[in-house]
Amino acid sequence: MKQISIAIDGPSGAGKSTLARKAAATLGYLYVDTGAIYRTVALSAVRRGIDPADAAGLVPTLSELDIRLEYGQDGLQHMYLNGEDVSQAIRVHEISQHASTVSAIPEVRAFLLDLQQDLARKNNVIMDGRDIGTVVLPDADVKIFLTASPESRAQRRHLELQQRGQDADFDTVLRDIIKRDEQDTNRPIAPLRQAEDAVLVDTTHLDLEQSLQAILAVIREKI
Ligand code: DC
Repeated sequence: MKQISIAIDGPSGAGKSTLARKAAATLGYLYVDTGAIYRTVALSAVRRGIDPADAAGLVPTLSELDIRLEYGQDGLQHMYLNGEDVSQAIRVHEISQHASTVSAIPEVRAFLLDLQQDLARKNNVIMDGRDIGTVVLPDADVKIFLTASPESRAQRRHLELQQRGQDADFDTVLRDIIKRDEQDTNRPIAPLRQAEDAVLVDTTHLDLEQSLQAILAVIREKI
């Protein structure tokens, strides 16, 4: 039976993961956070003492990586790196930037493509990332491009970091978001961009519940 796939792409901090997770729970689909997979590769590089920008150093180590996604009793996606649950370790601030850096390496993207496509072959999925609607699942049944102004994205990210007990000042968070947007948008391979057939949802002036309803409305119209 053909599985249904929903692609949600957009810049960091637009609320993709929170909204995609909630929408997936509402619809009974599997939520796949693809950013977490790039973060896991970045963590592996850092732990091995490899500069995340050093493609020549990083690429030969890819074949030694066992990256797995598992869904816990809590229903949440956990990332495993060579058997270790690294779901918390990949969420620290420095890994965000490193994930963006490793994600610009073509061999890293190619290495992770199968893993992502395989999940969509076997499950009804809502998958979020940067290139899901353009590269990973170009035939997705629904494509949404979720965005918001850099300032409101930085505000949300700042709050999220504070709630996790991580210290970060707002200006640094905003600067990092703008830098990551630039990096993710301007890389030559699989850049962040809205697929031609994606519906744009701008959450700058929407709260969480309004954003969720906006997304569910797009999905229900298409499926
Ligand atoms: O969604 P996130 O912030 O966890 O993603 C971390 C980085 O991974 C992001 O800056 C770019 C990269 N990424 C990507 O290139 N392609 C994806 N599908 C998902 C994430």
